[in-house]
Amino acid sequence: MKKITIAIDGHSSCGKSTMAKSLAREIGYIYIDTGAMYRAVTLYCIENNLITEDGINEKALKEQLPNVRVDFQQDPETKLPLTHLNGRNVEREIRTMAVSTKVSPVAALGFVREAMVRQQQLMGEQKGIVMDGRDVGTVIFPNAELKIFVTASAEIRAQRRYDELTAKGETCNYEEILKNVLERDHIDSTRAVSPLRKADDAIELDNSHMTIPEQKEWLLARFNEAAQK
Ligand code: DC
Repeated sequence: MKKITIAIDGHSSCGKSTMAKSLAREIGYIYIDTGAMYRAVTLYCIENNLITEDGINEKALKEQLPNVRVDFQQDPETKLPLTHLNGRNVEREIRTMAVSTKVSPVAALGFVREAMVRQQQLMGEQKGIVMDGRDVGTVIFPNAELKIFVTASAEIRAQRRYDELTAKGETCNYEEILKNVLERDHIDSTRAVSPLRKADDAIELDNSHMTIPEQKEWLLARFNEAAQK
C-alpha cells in the first residue's frame, strides 16, 4: 500500500482529533494536531501579556514569533504526541477555556498562519501523515489523497467539550462552552485568511449521531479505499 496524506478538517469540538489520532495509531502514521499549534501560540501570547483588553499586540507578536517554537514529542507511555512550547510540555494548558476563548483571533492573523503552515508542510513532506485542523485540505495539503470534512451540531459539540473538560476535572459551564463553540465557528469561517471551508474534493461526515467506534470504522474504510487507488 502506498503512503498517503490524510487531511481531516472541520468545526471545533467535533471529534476530529479523536478520529485522526486513532486512525494514525492503527495505520502507523504520524499524527499532527494543527489546532494545538495555534493554541500554543495563544498560550505564549497570554503568558507574555500580548493579549490585553485592547486586543492582540500584533507588532510584538510578529517580532517575537521567530522565537516561539512549537513542536510535538511523543508521550513514552501513551505514544501520543504532546505539544511543547519552547521545550515545555503545554498539552494540558492549551486545552483550558482560558486558551479556547482567545485562540480564534490569534489563528486569524495572516503572519501567524504563514509561519504555522510552513512548519506543517515540512512535517508532512514524507507523507504517511494524518493532520487535523481547518485548512489542511484547502491550504496545507491541497493535493492530499484523502480529505475528510467533519461536522456535528453545535449543541452536540458543546456537550462533548463539556464532558471532556469535566472528565479532566475542570469546572465549566455548558452555556458558556456553547457560546464559545458558536463564536469560534463564526470567526473560523468568516476570517479573511484561510477560512474554514470544505475542500471541493473532501468527503463530508456528520458524526452527530455516531459512536467513536463507528467513526473509526468509517474512517478506516475511507483510508483503505484511498491508499489502494
Ligand atoms: O481544533 P482546535 O479547536 O484545537 O483549534 C483551535 C483554534 O485554532 C480554532 O479556533 C481554529 C484554529 N485553527 C485554525 O485556524 N487552523 C487550523 N489548521 C487549526 C486550528
